Amino acid sequence: CGIVGYIGKRDSQEVLIEGLKKLEYRGYDSAGVAVYTEGGLEIKKAKGRLAVLESELSDAPLNGTVGIGHTRWATHGKPSNENSHPHTDNSKKFSVVHNGIIENYISLKEELIAQGHTFVSETDTEVISHLIAELYEGDIVKAVQQAVKRMKGAFALGVLTEYEPDRLVAVRLASPLVVGVGEGENFIGSDIPAILEYTRNVYILNDGEMALLTREGVELMTIEGNFISREMFHVDWDLVTAEKAGFDHFMMKEIYDQPKAYRDTIGSRISEDGSRVVLDEIGMTADEIRRIRNIHIVACGTAYHAGLVGKSVIEKLVRIPVEADVASEYRYRAPIITPETLVIVVSQSGETADTLAALREAKRSGARVLAITNVVGSSVSREADDVLVTWAGPEIAVASTKAYTTQLMAFYLLGLYLAQTLETLEQAEIVRTLAAMQSLPEQVESILARSEEIKAYAEKIASHEHLFFIGRGLDYAVALEGSLKLKEISYIHSEAYPAGELKHGTLALIEEGVPVIALGLQTELIEKTVSNIKEVTARGGEVLGIAYEGDNELAKSVDRTFSIPRTLDLLSPALTVIPLQLLSYYASLARGNDVDKPRNLAKSVTVE
Ligand code: G6P
Repeated sequence: CGIVGYIGKRDSQEVLIEGLKKLEYRGYDSAGVAVYTEGGLEIKKAKGRLAVLESELSDAPLNGTVGIGHTRWATHGKPSNENSHPHTDNSKKFSVVHNGIIENYISLKEELIAQGHTFVSETDTEVISHLIAELYEGDIVKAVQQAVKRMKGAFALGVLTEYEPDRLVAVRLASPLVVGVGEGENFIGSDIPAILEYTRNVYILNDGEMALLTREGVELMTIEGNFISREMFHVDWDLVTAEKAGFDHFMMKEIYDQPKAYRDTIGSRISEDGSRVVLDEIGMTADEIRRIRNIHIVACGTAYHAGLVGKSVIEKLVRIPVEADVASEYRYRAPIITPETLVIVVSQSGETADTLAALREAKRSGARVLAITNVVGSSVSREADDVLVTWAGPEIAVASTKAYTTQLMAFYLLGLYLAQTLETLEQAEIVRTLAAMQSLPEQVESILARSEEIKAYAEKIASHEHLFFIGRGLDYAVALEGSLKLKEISYIHSEAYPAGELKHGTLALIEEGVPVIALGLQTELIEKTVSNIKEVTARGGEVLGIAYEGDNELAKSVDRTFSIPRTLDLLSPALTVIPLQLLSYYASLARGNDVDKPRNLAKSVTVE
């Protein structure tokens, strides 16, 4: 979910809608605003995309200069008008927007019902507005502090009351929240882009902190009420980079951003003579690196898939055992973490609740935590011991593309850095790998120049309901990402399988005309993959092979081939994923889907 808030001199409805547009990637099954109008606190909310709310508001505007807004990604209660935020209490004098989950809302709700409150929604948020109303004794700040004390969970809040129309209260407890500072006006938002149009001066709240906003100023305090002073953060990046740059969709723009994103992420991290990796941001000493006995990589979704590549890269280059886990599993499987464990968390947003919880678990167990993230100042980046930033720039489309590939770059750099420190790799090999990395951006450009080939294939498979990806080793890791991408935005059911495992069950699903995409870039395994491809074609499966230029053996065994420029097998994921991203984009387009905002999904998932 995403929240915004405004107090100032402008028409608040407009500021809220503009902010919510920037936050729509965090959820978009309903939206709403509460504005303090001449008639008191008024709420308008609508199920569906923000555009629905926007058009309702343009027919019947809420005039006022103070308001809060919300865009929702359903957790408690289905998408509906009732379940949308802002929520209020029975007196309708209080209004709350909320991002996150209140774990103990059921017991609070029962208690409030016993005190005479009646509820209209199934949400945990409604409980907050009733609780604040119940505790209110003339000071909204105190009432919110009291309420927060009673609430368990991870959340961020924006609160208004009709009794004090010149005050807006914001709370952050483990869900991101920033405060924007203007002249005679102030803002809150779930992230910086939400308010960037209006101000570049922000305070980033930490967990357990809150803010009181008036038109004249902002007071920061802990939820216990101790005032705090914080340096203002000046945002110097511009909003234009977050716009589509002439592409029809953010996803396509982001796919085309990749050559630059590779260059930026590799950037100055390779020494000028091309002989060494320079990672000044890593604070671990050589001795500390030598003490690492095992590595855990933890992440969700696409970032997890980057972690799978990372696992192979590190194991190959450094020969330290690496496990890769999905964050929501890691937390609960009692992982064996010791002070000799290095835990690497990977997160584009740096705000994913499961990943953040895994990070905290790792730290509690005494491990050193290194974060690979795309957002400087994100929760993950602030809590990790070391941070390796992926310089992909803002990623807006829900389906992650450039974040994934820059995470791969981060893993290559990290793997080589560990190898050079531990001397597990010949110097000549380091130089050769770094040189090959520096050729990747151009190679990506050459693949993008042939996107029409993929478009034609995508249009062909768009009418299918099932599709398979196969590969071995690193090709399998990329197959998983290709399959996820396709599912996410085209809604075609697909599965990625280790090529050699197909015959142990899934081969039963292959029949005449079923599309199969076979990745064969791991030189030593190509022959074996070719045998598996033959198992598929013998059953009528139609295979698209992804192979190196000039690999005739693979090309001969498939129905059609898309070729990839030669690189080191280890680096090939950074190239093979590009046609797979294009494939899912064009398949989604051919099926008439909303490419950037697939159904049921959110860009940043800040609930468990
Ligand atoms: C969501 C997004 C995915 C993303 C995952 C992890 O599910 O839809 O695209 O891979 O979260 O996000 P993170 O920001 O932690 O990389």
